[in-house]
Amino acid sequence: MRMRILITGSNGLLGQKIVRQLLKRKINFLATSQGENRNSNCPAEFFSSLDITKKDQVEKTVNSFQPTAIINTAAMTNVDECEEKETQCRLINVDAVKYLLEISAKKNIHLIHISTDFVFDGLNGPYKETDSRNPLSIYAKSKADSEDILTQGNYKNWAILRTIIVFGQGENLSRTNIVLWAKETLKKGEELNIVNDQFRAPTWADDLAWACIKTAELNAKGIFHISGPETFSIFEMVQRIAVYYGADKSLVKPISSSTLNQKAKRPLLTGFILDKAKKELGYNPLSLEESLAKIV
Ligand SMILES: NC(=O)c1ccc[n+]([C@@H]2O[C@H](COP(=O)([O-])OP(=O)(O)OC[C@H]3O[C@@H](n4cnc5c(N)ncnc54)[C@H](OP(=O)(O)O)[C@@H]3O)[C@@H](O)[C@H]2O)c1
Repeated sequence: MRMRILITGSNGLLGQKIVRQLLKRKINFLATSQGENRNSNCPAEFFSSLDITKKDQVEKTVNSFQPTAIINTAAMTNVDECEEKETQCRLINVDAVKYLLEISAKKNIHLIHISTDFVFDGLNGPYKETDSRNPLSIYAKSKADSEDILTQGNYKNWAILRTIIVFGQGENLSRTNIVLWAKETLKKGEELNIVNDQFRAPTWADDLAWACIKTAELNAKGIFHISGPETFSIFEMVQRIAVYYGADKSLVKPISSSTLNQKAKRPLLTGFILDKAKKELGYNPLSLEESLAKIV
């Protein structure tokens, strides 16, 4: 059967990268996001507005497009905002996943859902797929609960791709990402205070998009860890970004997480063991510098 992929959250960074790769590979898709299409690379005939918190809209869109797979990239992704707006966060990150699973089960659609390293508490990273979770924030709990909807149901045609700090270039994004922000700030010659006690494996959005599409192509099932290949401190990450762009590395100042007073608690050491994704999907992510070289 020929693939027909429904993407949610196509205005977001990951959604835009999936659209780009599907167009290039001439795979049939429908891109959807709340509101209008803000991605000029996505032709109007491939786009339809869809708010995934509206069950009737979800059903109508799925019944009309008849996808073989749904890739759910839509989410409330601002971790501190989720602390303040718990109800909205749970509506988007948990309830909507129920609607997507229900219709997928009804029509035997492969549901591919994106989750996060934040489902872990950061005490024992790097993590493998089977490690036990302990979410520390409202965002993290909402994502862990969304995973449970899939893992604890009777319907088994699903995959969960957990990922970590996604970066890349997008158009009209509703929020920036670490590479774009660091590059812009360094260009202005401003100092950046960056935590040196949180460790992550940053993920190039294009690699993650590739993994989402591969998961659909293989009809792969279960949980997969998808991140960049190296884990280092966020401080080192920004220093390496500075060096790559030929900026003054001394503008990057180390600080401790405790001085930041962020609303949401973050895990300290995450990072993923990628063996399963490498073996089952053929996933082979680029290093930070290799990805920066590809970002225009
Ligand atoms: N970015 C990261 O560092 C990171 C790390 C770990 C996991 N993840 C997960 O990876 C996935 C993709 O992340 P991303 O970086 O691409 O996020 P993003 O750039 O924030 O994109 C998310 C998109 O979802 C859309 N959206 C929000 N509510 C919606 C609704 N009710 N109906 C339909 N669309 C809705 C947003 O629309 P608007 O643009 O109009 O607001 C946005 O375009 C998310 O599930 C996220 O939780 C991301």
